[in-house]
Amino acid sequence: MTEHQYSFETRLLHNQHKIDPVTGAVSVPIQHASTFHQYNVGQFGKYDYARSLNPTREALEDVIAELENGIKGFAFSSGMAAISTAFLLLSAGDHVVITEDVYGGTFRMVTEVLSRFGVEHTFVDMTDITQVKQAIQPNTRAFYVETPSNPLLKVTDIRAISSLAKEIGALTFVDNTFLTPALQRPLELGADIVLHSATKFLSGHSDVIAGLAVVKDEELAKRLGFLQNSFGAVLGVQDAWLVLRGLKTLSVRLEHSQKAALQIAEFLQSHPQIEKVYYPGLSDHPHYELQHAQAQGAGAVLSFELKSEAALRSFVSGVNIPVFAVSLGAVESILSYPAKMSHAAMSLAEREKRGIKNSLLRLSVGLENPDDMINDFSSSLEQLSEANLALQQGECP
Ligand SMILES: Cc1ncc(COP(=O)(O)O)c(C=O)c1O
Repeated sequence: MTEHQYSFETRLLHNQHKIDPVTGAVSVPIQHASTFHQYNVGQFGKYDYARSLNPTREALEDVIAELENGIKGFAFSSGMAAISTAFLLLSAGDHVVITEDVYGGTFRMVTEVLSRFGVEHTFVDMTDITQVKQAIQPNTRAFYVETPSNPLLKVTDIRAISSLAKEIGALTFVDNTFLTPALQRPLELGADIVLHSATKFLSGHSDVIAGLAVVKDEELAKRLGFLQNSFGAVLGVQDAWLVLRGLKTLSVRLEHSQKAALQIAEFLQSHPQIEKVYYPGLSDHPHYELQHAQAQGAGAVLSFELKSEAALRSFVSGVNIPVFAVSLGAVESILSYPAKMSHAAMSLAEREKRGIKNSLLRLSVGLENPDDMINDFSSSLEQLSEANLALQQGECP
């Protein structure tokens, strides 16, 4: 059996960088050198300057390419650096069709930076293929997909968008941060470029900022490699090593967190203080079938609405286990407030247009025992019920 025939979980550990060929070390060596001695004036070696290529970063790039079933991976200094560099494939006068409830940083890049360089955009609800078709212009060169989307967990049909893109000679970019290749492999569904904030599930421990991109086409690999070297937002070697280490436990982390996320989503859905739960693992989610047709699960991120912003504030101050913070995809559960965190770059009007309310919270489920999380949430919600009752009875809560 070759390593390519192993299952995904096994390949996280037993891949081409399992053992260092020089020393036999079972952990990829961290090569700090920024430059490499050349033995021949006429012909340089594989490595010459670390922005162009570095063995530690290369190991991570090889591993992510293999896991996403692509031919070439690229590691960047952040998810936004990966996304921004991929956008540099476009030129002035090009147009991109982009999913409307996209990560706030991507929204900011498209609306406030790319627009200054003449790259046009149209935001659409990508779950509606008719809207996507209507947004196409003669200069449309790319479709930008985030699925499940952030923070409303809408599911876009990657196959449908990719085949539409192919019909008009455009590229399909997919931000696969929420699911990772453990659960969804967009290149296999027709996408051209997979993007990641490796800050999240891939590294998994809230201790590194990193970004990755993977492609499956040689020509595109050359173009993106040229841009990575030209723009220069490459990942440092310590951080590359941290992502490599985090990757080894990706499957077990996601398996636990996904199971716990469903349990917590079901609890929240049945609670009278919760208005709405967004999680594609719930059988009544409008895109449940599609989610399970194109991915091996729904992931470990869910969002939910309380009855008001005041209720949200009170709920957040009453919970103890999750950290209340920006980010997701870590061993500890992270509760986030999209309106003031991930989507603060959007105006209130833009958020309201997209249904991102001030009473919405996002939860990234970690490795805690879900029963403890449910008890924690339950007692905070109980306090809300008591406060409501007191208000109804005209008492000071
Ligand atoms: C879906 C998604 N894409 C991209 C990013 C940006 O990644 P980074 O913070 O690593 O730059 C984030 C960050 O939260 C994200 O949630």
